[in-house]
Amino acid sequence: MDFEQIQNELKKTMKKNRYQHVCRVSAVAEQIAEYYHLPVENIKIAGLIHDCAKDYTFAQLNSLINKYKISLNEVERHIPKIWHAYVGAEMAKDIFQIDNQEILDAIRYHSTASVRLGLMGKVIYIADKIEPNRKSIKTKELWQLIWKDIDMAMLELLDRELRYLILKKLVIHPDTLEVRNKIIIDRDF
Ligand SMILES: [Fe+2]
Ligand SMILES: [Fe+2]
Repeated sequence: MDFEQIQNELKKTMKKNRYQHVCRVSAVAEQIAEYYHLPVENIKIAGLIHDCAKDYTFAQLNSLINKYKISLNEVERHIPKIWHAYVGAEMAKDIFQIDNQEILDAIRYHSTASVRLGLMGKVIYIADKIEPNRKSIKTKELWQLIWKDIDMAMLELLDRELRYLILKKLVIHPDTLEVRNKIIIDRDF
């Protein structure tokens, strides 16, 4: 499916506020993609689809996890908040006929982040967190980082996420720690 077909499909199935969120993420991701000369159409599509499973209940997600034979490890079973990302990637293949691995990975890892994310995946991770409705975040400094050094923007957002998870005494997915470590090790701070 192309961007417009996916948009029409999602408009029918998603809750209104969620649909508006994915449109904003798609638009923010497009802006960053243009600056970095990334495949804009693919990024816009990834942004649009990333939360396609977010409106499901945990029970519904559970049955989709079974349907798509997604295997969750012990840690992942204890973080229901991230299930929609794994299910969303499978739905992208199944319903929206996406076979581009970068798009699928961007959707699959938009919640935890991962060292498997390329630049496109990082853009989606970032866009999801800084779209204009996320008011709690100081976006001005982040936008400066995005233009200057996208990995530093990623690191900043990962740190915020980890601080939140620690504060709330929530389980941390190893992928989140692994990608944070990689950014720091690659920099040789
Ligand atoms: Fe999400
Ligand atoms: Fe999102």
